[in-house]
Amino acid sequence: MRKIYFDNAASTRVDERVIRAMEPYFGSKYGNASSIHGFGREAKEAIENARKIIAKRIGARAREIIFTSGGTEGNNFVLKGLFFSNYPRKNHIITSKIEHDCILNACKWLESLGARVTYLDVDKEGFIDLEQLEKAINERTFLVSIMQANNEVGTIQNLKAIGEICKKRGVLFHTDACQSFTKVPLDVNKMNLDLVTLNSHKIHGPKGVGAVYIREGIKITPLLHGGGHEKGLRSGTENVSGIVGFGKAVEISSRKDVEKMEKLRDILIEGILKIPNVKLNGPKGEKRLCNNVNVCFNDIEGESIGGYLESKGIFVSTGSACASHTLASSHVLRAMGLSPQQINSSIRISISRYTSEEEVRYFLKVLPKIVKKLRRFSALR
Ligand SMILES: Cc1ncc(COP(=O)(O)O)c(C=O)c1O
Repeated sequence: MRKIYFDNAASTRVDERVIRAMEPYFGSKYGNASSIHGFGREAKEAIENARKIIAKRIGARAREIIFTSGGTEGNNFVLKGLFFSNYPRKNHIITSKIEHDCILNACKWLESLGARVTYLDVDKEGFIDLEQLEKAINERTFLVSIMQANNEVGTIQNLKAIGEICKKRGVLFHTDACQSFTKVPLDVNKMNLDLVTLNSHKIHGPKGVGAVYIREGIKITPLLHGGGHEKGLRSGTENVSGIVGFGKAVEISSRKDVEKMEKLRDILIEGILKIPNVKLNGPKGEKRLCNNVNVCFNDIEGESIGGYLESKGIFVSTGSACASHTLASSHVLRAMGLSPQQINSSIRISISRYTSEEEVRYFLKVLPKIVKKLRRFSALR
C-alpha cells in the first residue's frame, strides 16, 4: 500500500542532498573537529561552513551560533543558562501557555529553584496579547520567550512587535523557531531577538542536531562542562555529520517550497471545511504556518480518524507527536479555549515540500467517508 506522510511537524524525511552531504563525515572524513591535524581541520571547516549558512539565514554572525543536540537542548540551555546567570538578582520569565513542552517543563523546573514564571494566555486562534505581555514585565524580568510558530496549530506570532516591547523594556527576547525556521522570515536584528532556538529534523535535515543563536555579549551559563567546545558554552565533541546535514538542509530550503506548501495547505483547509460540523483550529492565511492544518471534527475521536486514515496508508497526528505518548490532552488547544471533547476530536495534518497535490486530493476523497462512517457510530453524539 502507498504511504502518505502527513506528520511533518513531528519530523521530516531527510533530503537526498542532505544525506549525500553527510555521508563523507561517516566515512573518510571522520576526524574530531578539535584535532589540529588535517582530519580535524577538515571537520572544523565543515562545521564552520554550516555555522555561516545558518547564521546568514537569520541575519546573525557565525560566531553567535552554538550547535546543540536539537530544539529540546537549545530551549533548556536558553532558559536554564540565563536563569543561572541572572538569579537571584532577576528571577522572572515570561512565556506563553502554548509553548512546546521543553519550554514549559523547563520553566516548571526552574520555578522549583526560585524562578517566577508568567504564562501568557492566548486567544482562540493562538495569539498572545501584546498588552498583557507588556503589563507582565517587571523589574525582575530577565527573559521573554515566545515561540515563532506553534507546532500544533501553526499560529505565527508577531515577533517584531514583541521584540520592540522587549527592547523598550530592556528584557531579553528569545524565540523557539523550531517549527518556523526556513518557512517564516526570521531576522534577529529586525525582530530585536537576543536568542533563537533552531533544529534540523523539521526541515529535512537529520535528527539530534540544532543550534542556538546567542547575541554577542549576552551572559549565559553553560549547562555542559567539559573540553570547552563551542566557545565553552556547549562542551562535547561536535556531531560533525549532523551539523553538515543541518547546514545543507538550510542551504537548499527555498521560498518556492513555502509557496507550494501554502497552496496545498489552503486546498486541504478548503476541502476539509466542506465536511459538515468541522472547525479549523488556528488562523487562516499568512498568519498560519505553510505546512500546518489542524481541525476539529466534533462528535468523533481524532484517534479513531487517525486509525482509519492509517488503514488507508495516511499518517496524521492526533495531538503533538512529542506529547502523544503521555496521552495528555493538548495544552495548546486547551489554552485556545477548546473543550476536552473538541480537543479529543482534533487532528493535525502537516505537509512538506514532498507532499503532492495528488496526495492531498486523495486524502480529501477518503476523509469525508471516514468522518461520515465514524459519526454514524459515534458514542460522543
Ligand atoms: C516548537 C518546537 N520546539 C522544540 C521542539 C523540540 O525539538 P527536538 O525534537 O529537536 O528536541 C519541537 C519538536 O517537536 C518543536 O516543535
